[in-house]
Amino acid sequence: MSVQTTEIQRENPAGPASLDLVNPKTYLENDMAAYWRRLRTDHPVFWHPETADRRGFWVVSRYPDVQALFRDNKRLTSEKGNVLVTLLAGGDSAAGQMLAVTDGRRHKDLRNVMLKAFSPRALAKVAGIVRENTRRLMAEAIRRGEGDFAADVASVIPMTTVGGLLGIPVSDHPYLLKLTKSCLSSDEADQAPEEAFLARNEILLYFSDLVAERRENPQDDVISTLTRSDINGVPLTDQDIVFNCYSLILGGDETSRLSMIEALHALSSEPGEWRRLRDHEVDLETATEEMLRWATPAMNFGRHATTDFELHGEQIKKGDIVTLWQMSANRDETVFPDPYTLDLARTPNKHITFGYGPHFCIGAYLARVEVKEMLDALRTFSTGFEITGEPHRIHSNLMQGMSYLPMRYFPDEQGLAAG
Ligand code: HEM
Repeated sequence: MSVQTTEIQRENPAGPASLDLVNPKTYLENDMAAYWRRLRTDHPVFWHPETADRRGFWVVSRYPDVQALFRDNKRLTSEKGNVLVTLLAGGDSAAGQMLAVTDGRRHKDLRNVMLKAFSPRALAKVAGIVRENTRRLMAEAIRRGEGDFAADVASVIPMTTVGGLLGIPVSDHPYLLKLTKSCLSSDEADQAPEEAFLARNEILLYFSDLVAERRENPQDDVISTLTRSDINGVPLTDQDIVFNCYSLILGGDETSRLSMIEALHALSSEPGEWRRLRDHEVDLETATEEMLRWATPAMNFGRHATTDFELHGEQIKKGDIVTLWQMSANRDETVFPDPYTLDLARTPNKHITFGYGPHFCIGAYLARVEVKEMLDALRTFSTGFEITGEPHRIHSNLMQGMSYLPMRYFPDEQGLAAG
């Protein structure tokens, strides 16, 4: 532990050291904006103290540092996990097989194989499905007049996106959606960790069956492409494919869902920005980027140090856990003027929502399509909307956002009639 921590605790018992970033409740019960502002200003590389049953870890909060460390796969590795839960548990059983927790040559090769499966043709097909589904779901929700946006729209779109990509039968979407929801976060504060573990196993088993089926009956989808792929002449094993399907479904589902929910939530409280969007005063792509910065659904990712190095006077030791906080970097006032203001016309907007460097999100294009199509459908089919009840925020130390957003919509009959 660095000397700095002790000093902070002595100076101010309610200071940075007093917030437990591992406990999901922390994010719901504290003014996190003030916390991150303080860390960025005074403790850009902060040692999060160990407890009796848990290791300590470094917390990096400034944009330039987060960006540089995301890119640095020499001094840092993802092979012992890239999220707090696995980093603190001491490793990830899918290391070296699942893209997000593989590094070096193997990562490059595996990513190239995956990128082939994400061909422009495959992406264009999925983007078409996303547009069609989003417009249909939004039109239905708006015609109904009232409902939970999270359940009616935002939960359904990402599963159709990743499902379309992987070739998951539509009838299985609700089952997988239920499982992915319990893997990364929880609607309840007291969900047992075993529940997440069981959900993960069920997803892996589901994909084992699907991979076996696609080997027998190949289709025009990513799983079938992966079953025909090899790295240096060695075909991908079933386990390689299963881990990466798991990674796609988990990476692509909750993050996109939370982004869409936050987009609607934010527009409900910013009528001026909604007006600009609706009146086509802001470019749709630019607005989408700001929504992604604003939502930052993945709060942090992490790494292990492979060597000793120094950052802002702190000594990071080989084997230390280093966490990179996008939720702070995306509000860094040295990079984003007025970062706590939603500005749909914000340019430039080099947000770090999708990470940076070698592990940059492989699904960023599709995630952007999802948010863009949702905003477009919203401004075409409705004249306005309002929140009718208390939204529910999720419990997680990885993701942030809402799982329930009750809404009332005001239909635009002309837009709805034109489709
Ligand atoms: C990687 C965020 C949507 C699949 C990442 C990373 C971030 C991220 C921050 C880097 C992780 C790291 O450096 O350790 C997001 C956000 C999304 C989103 C915020 C939505 C708003 C998607 C979608 C898919 C996907 C739609 C799949 C279709 C992946 C995969 C990786 C990844 C497979 C690992 C890439 C690698 O390690 O090379 N994502 N993601 N993500 N994402 Fe996404």
